[in-house]
Amino acid sequence: MGVLLAPSILAGDWWCIGDQIRQTIEGGADILHYDVMDGHFVPNITAGPEILADISKRVSVPIDAHLMIENPDKYIPAFVEAGASWVSVHVENTPHLHRTLYLIKDLGAKAGVVLNPATPISAVEEALRHADYVLLMSVNPGFSGQKFIGDSIRRLRELRSLRDRINPDCLIEIDGGIKEENIVQVVKEGAQVIVVGSGIFSAEDIKAQTRKLKDLISSAVAV
Ligand code: DX5
Ligand code: ZN
Repeated sequence: MGVLLAPSILAGDWWCIGDQIRQTIEGGADILHYDVMDGHFVPNITAGPEILADISKRVSVPIDAHLMIENPDKYIPAFVEAGASWVSVHVENTPHLHRTLYLIKDLGAKAGVVLNPATPISAVEEALRHADYVLLMSVNPGFSGQKFIGDSIRRLRELRSLRDRINPDCLIEIDGGIKEENIVQVVKEGAQVIVVGSGIFSAEDIKAQTRKLKDLISSAVAV
């Protein structure tokens, strides 16, 4: 599997989100990243399973639900039912992580575990054995359009070596502040699923911007 580009649709304009999503898919988006925020775990509120269902009915690319919510177990079945085929939960607020990862897997979705910028990489050492992917946050979750935290590169290296040792099949996803300027670097450092919000949706031509980022990914993979 090549490196995947995952537009974060939270950053889109919800007046015309369907058209914008279509443009990202025509530009080569591999997967859609759907941010779920509850105003408790993170200081912002977004959308739930109903809106995800409206989108999943109309697209053929997978949808990756990033759950930034308290008590994720309660809502996971609804998100999978709505069409999320990847679901990730934060290590910081999921006390029974092993159970939660298998809840996601037993529903037939890929299970991911997410790390906030100040959470030690070692916090996912055990979960890595069971997860299909680890999502490294390169901003503090809650908003799109924030600046990439530079230290995330060191953390990406550390995560990559832990992953290589514990479970080489587990994918590494990165989320927050990825743009044209740093996408090549994160791919070269081993990120395999690249979430981009404002770096796509603030462009005048969303399709062309998606295509450009895909080309940058290909150039980074080729080296
Ligand atoms: C932040 C979200 C991200 C965000 C990415 O809490 O998890 O997915 O929307 O947006 P950018 O790429 O603008 O940082
Ligand atoms: Zn996200």
